Amino acid sequence: MKQIIVSPSLLGGNPLNIEKEVEMINDSDADWLHIDIMDGVFVPNITIGFPVLQRLKSICKKPLDVHLMIVEPDKWINLLADAGAMMMNVHYEACTHLHRTIQQIHQAGMKAAVTLNPATPVGVLEDIICDVDMVLLMSVNPGFGGQKFIENTYKKIDRLRKLIKESGSNALIEIDGGVNGETAPKLAARGADVLVSGSYVFKADDPKATIAWLKSQL
Ligand code: DX5
Ligand code: ZN
Repeated sequence: MKQIIVSPSLLGGNPLNIEKEVEMINDSDADWLHIDIMDGVFVPNITIGFPVLQRLKSICKKPLDVHLMIVEPDKWINLLADAGAMMMNVHYEACTHLHRTIQQIHQAGMKAAVTLNPATPVGVLEDIICDVDMVLLMSVNPGFGGQKFIENTYKKIDRLRKLIKESGSNALIEIDGGVNGETAPKLAARGADVLVSGSYVFKADDPKATIAWLKSQL
């Protein structure tokens, strides 16, 4: 039976206590740690950069699922690989030559994911779906944690699942934004493979139990 992959988003944690938050993740059932990097250009917010990411890898026992909300992500492929990222998520909307970007991510030894904003249709992936390891569907507009889930995402999962099946791709479907006690069971039932969750996990009274609960969704 398929088990959901849980990738808690560190953005939902206390930025003044990152080490403690990572220790909690290390001790939990989380599969990956989701790291959001924002540049203040592609999205209206700025988060952490490479010096922090490099240090994170030395304390985090889980694979790093890095979501780049930045323009020109190609510039940072080698640095991200050196920082120990397992997965590099680039936004479709930020890549002029997406096929080349995906090739270079693979050449650098990382898995490659393409991320779609809520307004970008799944159909744009038709000619790249067999080259990517994962598709991240944004279920909020990227830039901030704690936003309301966009309901249209459920239909997008159906369309993406159909595309994956028909093309023979092995891409995983990851959902990011507004994943909580209400939306997680529906997303799992709808066929999501990976759930990212920031505020729901880190603001919970018992984050480890919340991660275990997300992991138990079918
Ligand atoms: C938002 C980020 C998310 C964010 C999700 O742009 O990509 O990873 O942390 O936060 P929640 O789970 O609170 O919606
Ligand atoms: Zn994210």
